Amino acid sequence: MRKKLVVGNWKMHGNRSANAALLAGLKEAGPWNADVAVCVPFPYIAETALALTSQAIAFGAQDCSAQEQGAFTGEVSSAMLADLGCRYVIVGHSERRAYHHESDQLVADKAKAALAHGVTPIVCVGETLVEREAGQTELVVKRQLAAVIHTLTHCIGEIVLAYEPVWAIGTGLTASPEQAQAVHAVLRKQLQAATQKADAMRILYGGSVKPDNAAQLFACADIDGGLIGGAALKTADFSVICRAA
Ligand code: G3P
Repeated sequence: MRKKLVVGNWKMHGNRSANAALLAGLKEAGPWNADVAVCVPFPYIAETALALTSQAIAFGAQDCSAQEQGAFTGEVSSAMLADLGCRYVIVGHSERRAYHHESDQLVADKAKAALAHGVTPIVCVGETLVEREAGQTELVVKRQLAAVIHTLTHCIGEIVLAYEPVWAIGTGLTASPEQAQAVHAVLRKQLQAATQKADAMRILYGGSVKPDNAAQLFACADIDGGLIGGAALKTADFSVICRAA
């Protein structure tokens, strides 16, 4: 039985006072049966680490460099994230794939860099609406995951995978449990062909997870938790989602 994991992706939201209030609210609302983490903007990682000291809530970042160190202005290495105590780092989020033209291989290299410093990558895959409507969902997510499997080889079992249909992110258009489970099952099968750890790996669903749909999604056989965007910014909503896991 895989323990559920619920991760809040704050994206580019927050400020010091709002973050302090949100984290205080989560500390008050927890703990939950599920593992819970928040992935915050880089400037707030150190303060989040202080706020969550000795708390059951883990924390992480939303991206990292594929490079170890050096003349890469503006980038943040996984060594730095580890130095700050990050447990997770989201890599390959569709917003970064789209706005920063991140390739499947770059995402795989970022995941490898994270693992090299003991930070667990949450690797995002997902299709656009055009790709879904063209019947290419399976092709796309399997291609994205294949790059990670090829690059990580025997370490693939150490990642967390997240299926985030692009058309469900921030739109309020959640994938139905059946739609999400179908893709999760495809990803699980692909992982089973790559590693004996596949059945222990966690595959999260992300894309308009809300308090009123979380339990149904999390009840699916291959959905092991959620990657939460908008709802993660509201203490009550995020807590209800964590409790549903
Ligand atoms: O990474 C999670 C995010 O993409 C989902 O966003 O607002 O649809 O929950 P949202």
